[in-house]
Amino acid sequence: MRKPLISGNWKMHHNHFEAIQTIQRLAYALSSSDYESVDVSVHAPFTDLRSLQTVIEVDQIPINLGAQHSHWEEKGAFTGEVSPEMLAKLNVSFVIVGHSERRHIFGESDEDVNKKVRAVIAKEMTPILCVGETSEERESGRTLEIVERQLKEGLKEVKASEVASMVIAYEPVWAIGTGKNATPEDAQEVCKGIRIKVADLYKTASDDVRIQYGGSVKGVNAPDLMKQADIDGLLVGGASLDPDEFSRIIKYRLLD
Ligand code: 13P
Repeated sequence: MRKPLISGNWKMHHNHFEAIQTIQRLAYALSSSDYESVDVSVHAPFTDLRSLQTVIEVDQIPINLGAQHSHWEEKGAFTGEVSPEMLAKLNVSFVIVGHSERRHIFGESDEDVNKKVRAVIAKEMTPILCVGETSEERESGRTLEIVERQLKEGLKEVKASEVASMVIAYEPVWAIGTGKNATPEDAQEVCKGIRIKVADLYKTASDDVRIQYGGSVKGVNAPDLMKQADIDGLLVGGASLDPDEFSRIIKYRLLD
């Protein structure tokens, strides 16, 4: 069925020296049976990517290189931006698109997110499309409405076969970096709603699309989250910075 994908989003942490050390310690903690059971990706700051690419290749580490963000254009006068083409050249496999911090701090719209999803797919990388509601939206009972809108808009003009191989991350905004994670049952309910919406939009993609949960994931809560039928992986922020804690999460199946 769907192979779990556990991703570490380092956000604006770890310079390239720290990044090299962290990925080497992570690789040391993981074994071939971990990689057989779980796909792993690490989403580092742009300045780390070239160093990590080299370490991954030289040491033959089966961790997928990931980016946190990309522009949609191939090149041009976009000061400070990086293109999907540049990421693909570094052998980046997964690109986070539409993280709530990009949406809320940097004002990314659903339309921007959609352009990025399509641009990433066009360069044969896999987008991890993030969706999630704020606490006010949850309190007013609008969680599914918000998530369904973000999905519908984010996936515009993306083909069913492309959706089938992509990843959707459900990250409730109120659970990010707060220590307040969604209960496994609440997370499952929304992830199930996401799969139903994908089935609604694309009949054939919903069985294959991988859905991650993100928001205050740690070694202690990973096993119960991963037991849920519609949760196929985890998008981990703070806990992914520490290779010992991140490897515990990746080994969730042994912790139970
Ligand atoms: P935390 O795991 O630190 O809550 O962050 C979640 C996140 O935003 C991952 O993308």
